[in-house]
Amino acid sequence: MNINCIGILTSGGDSPGMNAAIRAVTRTALCKGFKVKGIYRGYDGLINGDVHEFTTESVSNIIGRGGTILKSARSKEFMTREGREKAYQTMQREGIDALVVIGGNGSLTGAKTFGDEFNIPCIGLPGTIDNDLYGTDITIGYDTTLNTIVDCVDKIRDTANSHERIFFVEVMGRDAGFLAQNSAIASGAEAAIIPEDSTDADQLEHFIGRGIRKSKNSSIVIVSESPKCGALFYADRVKKEYPQYDVRVSILGHVQRGGSPSARDRILSSVLGAGAIDALIDGQRNVMVGIKNGQIVYVPFVDAIHSEKVLRKELIKVLDELSI
Ligand code: F6P
Repeated sequence: MNINCIGILTSGGDSPGMNAAIRAVTRTALCKGFKVKGIYRGYDGLINGDVHEFTTESVSNIIGRGGTILKSARSKEFMTREGREKAYQTMQREGIDALVVIGGNGSLTGAKTFGDEFNIPCIGLPGTIDNDLYGTDITIGYDTTLNTIVDCVDKIRDTANSHERIFFVEVMGRDAGFLAQNSAIASGAEAAIIPEDSTDADQLEHFIGRGIRKSKNSSIVIVSESPKCGALFYADRVKKEYPQYDVRVSILGHVQRGGSPSARDRILSSVLGAGAIDALIDGQRNVMVGIKNGQIVYVPFVDAIHSEKVLRKELIKVLDELSI
């Protein structure tokens, strides 16, 4: 298939580094003789024709900015066949021959369905703070968010020490514990409660069983977000069962998604963005461009979306041993 014009969009929860990826896709494509069109507000923009041609200036001075200049959305309409029909009509009207989609699991699922249905070359870039996409060692935004969390926990530690308190700090990650486990290691937290490790109750028992605050001024437990048992749930349990302890909760929330991307995220986004255009030139379609052991890899959407990215169990052991 002859590709002249490439459309680019960001979708789902934003992540620091998305702008650097938009810049890399745009500039690499222009360098290699393609036209580029920016699609605003994710798949909703594709449905509604919210499309603007991009020049190299369209992406000037954005490499260091958090968020996404293209805006983002989780489109309900795109989940319907009628919505995707409208999106396809926009592609035809705008002369867009291929799509680069920057987003997480749901966004790449949409790209796969759309690509299959309308025979459109779609390339995905792993844009999510959760780091939960299979086939890539790291996702765009994960490193920045990890650093943001560690910065927050360092600050919480100061006040926790002063008041000799136990803090339950809730972090994002959806169903994955990468942010929780690694931020716990990096901030010297006493424990992490993550979905990948046995049952949540066991993890709390384990932490308590070791003897809270026997020799420490404070304790910090990083808790992976969960609709049923987040940080508030654990704090309530400890308050009830151990009224002698002074317990507080800090839910970090969307502060974790903002901010200027780290150098690592900017480089990752730049390399993957360039990789997306190379993938299209290679005749690839329906793949996510990822990075494995420093090498660019093409991961079929079906694997990136459906295979489980495993959290290395030795990370649990490391935290356990270092937090005695
Ligand atoms: O997938 C990214 C993420 O930030 C998750 O960690 C979190 O569960 C979710 O998005 C929050 O979504 P929203 O921005 O809709 O509140």
